[in-house]
Amino acid sequence: METWDAITSRRNVRSYTTDPIPESELSRILEAGRRTPSAMNRQPWDFIVTTNPQQLTELAKCWQGARHVASSAATITLVTPITDNPRDAGMNAYDLGQASITMMIAAADTGIGSAHAAVQDQQLARSVLGFPEDRYAAYFIALGYPADRPLAPIKQLTRRPFEDVVHHGRW
Ligand SMILES: Cc1cc2nc3c(=O)[nH]c(=O)nc-3n(C[C@H](O)[C@H](O)[C@H](O)COP(=O)(O)O)c2cc1C
Repeated sequence: METWDAITSRRNVRSYTTDPIPESELSRILEAGRRTPSAMNRQPWDFIVTTNPQQLTELAKCWQGARHVASSAATITLVTPITDNPRDAGMNAYDLGQASITMMIAAADTGIGSAHAAVQDQQLARSVLGFPEDRYAAYFIALGYPADRPLAPIKQLTRRPFEDVVHHGRW
């Protein structure tokens, strides 16, 4: 896909075919995440990739909005340091958002659907994934080939109008 098509085709895909994602495609998505810029190049992330159906079923129980994780072909968990410094927390959140969308667009580039999910039950996530006590699971990114329809540039957007969002010169 062209970059513009990947950007305009990406949407949250929450139902997936049973097709696995080839290892090379998964690595490319993760490499896109690794290359993401971060504040002061701190790279406050680790990515845990899960393809095991039993683990995915357990991860899906971490949050009511994470049910789609169970049927994903793979789910990437974004793990980040726990901090009580608000400035660091703000930068980490921004950086994780950048890593998320970079990976999602890389996925869309080869027709792979993706969907965010928050992680509420940290204890369950930690017991399934084994990340250290000084980190937490910030988000899941579930991946899989769309079961509904292939990714294609979205014409009817659920977005605020361009003129409402964009301010030229000053507000
Ligand atoms: C920070 C963040 C958290 C989100 N958490 C969830 C979630 O827990 N479960 C879910 O199904 N979708 C989640 N989403 C997906 C949003 O609902 C979705 O991106 C938004 O409605 C726009 O739809 P689109 O991605 O299809 O364009 C999250 C998105 C973001 C950016």
